[in-house]
Amino acid sequence: MRTRVLVFHPDLQSSTVNKALAQEARKNPELDVIGMYAKYPDFNIDVKAEQEALEQVDRIVLQFPVYWYSVPPLLKKWFDDVLAYGWAYGSQGTALHGKELLIAAGFGAGEEAYQGDSGYTAEQLFAPLHQTSNFIGTTWLDPFVMYGTTGIEQQRLEDYVSAYVRILSDIK
Ligand SMILES: Cc1cc2nc3c(=O)[nH]c(=O)nc-3n(C[C@H](O)[C@H](O)[C@H](O)COP(=O)(O)O)c2cc1C
Repeated sequence: MRTRVLVFHPDLQSSTVNKALAQEARKNPELDVIGMYAKYPDFNIDVKAEQEALEQVDRIVLQFPVYWYSVPPLLKKWFDDVLAYGWAYGSQGTALHGKELLIAAGFGAGEEAYQGDSGYTAEQLFAPLHQTSNFIGTTWLDPFVMYGTTGIEQQRLEDYVSAYVRILSDIK
């Protein structure tokens, strides 16, 4: 299974969690791990190149820190630009049909903030992403969700990193 991991972190060098995940994922030669903010610092996404790269893979991973209960702005622009009519949707737009889509996202706040009693759950917050996946015909995988990423302790970080790499490598 060929996997393309798109990492959307505005400052990956200063990141703790997304940097650790990306570094470990890069050790697996079957994974293409792309730092999208480094590739497109001016937000001018090469749509054709990105589409062609996605056509070659079986699984797409969108990895990002949750910002304001949503995705960082370059990921929003990636949806707007890359998931184009006639390619990702529309009667001729079947390029991504049947590919797997995995969301890998970190919340700074702890899991208790997303239990649903005083707000929304991660599943509810990711509804637009899930609906997008349905719309473009990808298979929605159970999101890989991390909580308490702000000031995370080393052991929990290592646990997340090894769980992530296991999922990406298909070792159950
Ligand atoms: C602009 C901004 C908005 C954020 N919004 C949220 C939020 O809505 N919910 C939350 O739990 N954490 C929020 N955070 C915390 C980030 O999710 C957290 O810093 C990130 O997951 C840590 O990952 P990193 O080490 O890769 O940067 C926000 C952080 C920033 C900078």
